[in-house]
Amino acid sequence: MKILVTGAAGFIGMHTSERLLARGDEVVGLDNLNDYYDPGLKESRLARLRLHPAFRFVKLDVADRPGVERLFAAEKFERVIHLAAQAGVRYSIQNPHAYVDSNLVGFVNILEGCRHHQVQHLVYASSSSVYGGNTKMPFSEHDSVDHPVSLYAATKKANELMAHTYSHLYALPTTGLRFFTVYGPWGRPDMALFLFTKAILEGRPIDVFNHGKMKRDFTYVDDIVEGVIRTVDHVAAPDPAFSSDQPDPGRSHAPFRVFNIGNHHPVELMAFIEAIESALGIKATKNFLPMQDGDVPATYADTRELNAWTGFAPATSVGDGVGRFVAWYRAYYGG
Ligand SMILES: NC(=O)c1ccc[n+]([C@@H]2O[C@H](COP(=O)([O-])OP(=O)(O)OC[C@H]3O[C@@H](n4cnc5c(N)ncnc54)[C@H](O)[C@@H]3O)[C@@H](O)[C@H]2O)c1
Repeated sequence: MKILVTGAAGFIGMHTSERLLARGDEVVGLDNLNDYYDPGLKESRLARLRLHPAFRFVKLDVADRPGVERLFAAEKFERVIHLAAQAGVRYSIQNPHAYVDSNLVGFVNILEGCRHHQVQHLVYASSSSVYGGNTKMPFSEHDSVDHPVSLYAATKKANELMAHTYSHLYALPTTGLRFFTVYGPWGRPDMALFLFTKAILEGRPIDVFNHGKMKRDFTYVDDIVEGVIRTVDHVAAPDPAFSSDQPDPGRSHAPFRVFNIGNHHPVELMAFIEAIESALGIKATKNFLPMQDGDVPATYADTRELNAWTGFAPATSVGDGVGRFVAWYRAYYGG
């Protein structure tokens, strides 16, 4: 298939593109290579993708409306995997406009491109952060997600609502994937695993928020990619069980689906830090701090819907996954 992957120079985008290329798909990778974190890391990821003859790179901002229109008209994609976004919960408190431009304006440009150029299926990244302040665990697609606690989360929830509208109005099949704290080789420098590994190797203390009383459903990137590929291949369809009299947030009359992709196995932050210490063979000095604005104390994915739809559920243990990240980090940065 000919597939557009947006955010291809990003962490999940690179891994997803590699898997598609390995199975013989043609991939057009789009990214604006912004400097939210080191663009050199994005260039290195792209260099790996450029080794494949079936990969082409387009440097473009998804918020560039005429540019996105031209791209869709020229390329005629069969499927679109939309991962480009301004990520990060904390940055959305200081830089709200970056989220409106990339995540809202950019998203409607992608929807319009899909609508006007007969794309068979749009799969896009949502986030576990849509569950906001919910405390009912595990988080289920059938729960209400109307109480976000950061603008980042609100833009991801908005993406799901915008996608639903296009699925309803134009019969565009859309699948939103709520990723739960993704980690692994080539990971993001603004996320805990990268920050902790770097600080420990440099002999600096690590910042441990909410005094370590946090739980995350850490999900290994290969499991995320498996979930992405399986959902791309299984085109969203109307749900016959949907009732407009009693609308279930996880169902629809339209060809619209949302799925959690998480490990279904939340891990205490302190246990995660121990896994990093053990992979590095170095004890961390911990700087215990209060909870950060926009953050939530726990995440936990119910993965029954994903499993029923694709036959897959993530299962990589934190011990294995952290070990593979640390091996990559040392090979890439030295230390
Ligand atoms: N990593 C996680 O734990 C996680 C969790 C939940 C959801 N997500 C979502 O998954 C997707 C991929 O995340 P990631 O961790 O790979 O992040 P990432 O920042 O590594 O990748 C995103 C890529 O998109 C590009 N991009 C950003 N804004 C753009 C724009 N306006 N136009 C074109 N390109 C743009 C960036 O340059 C980057 O390369 C994002 O939508 C993110 O919100 C990630």
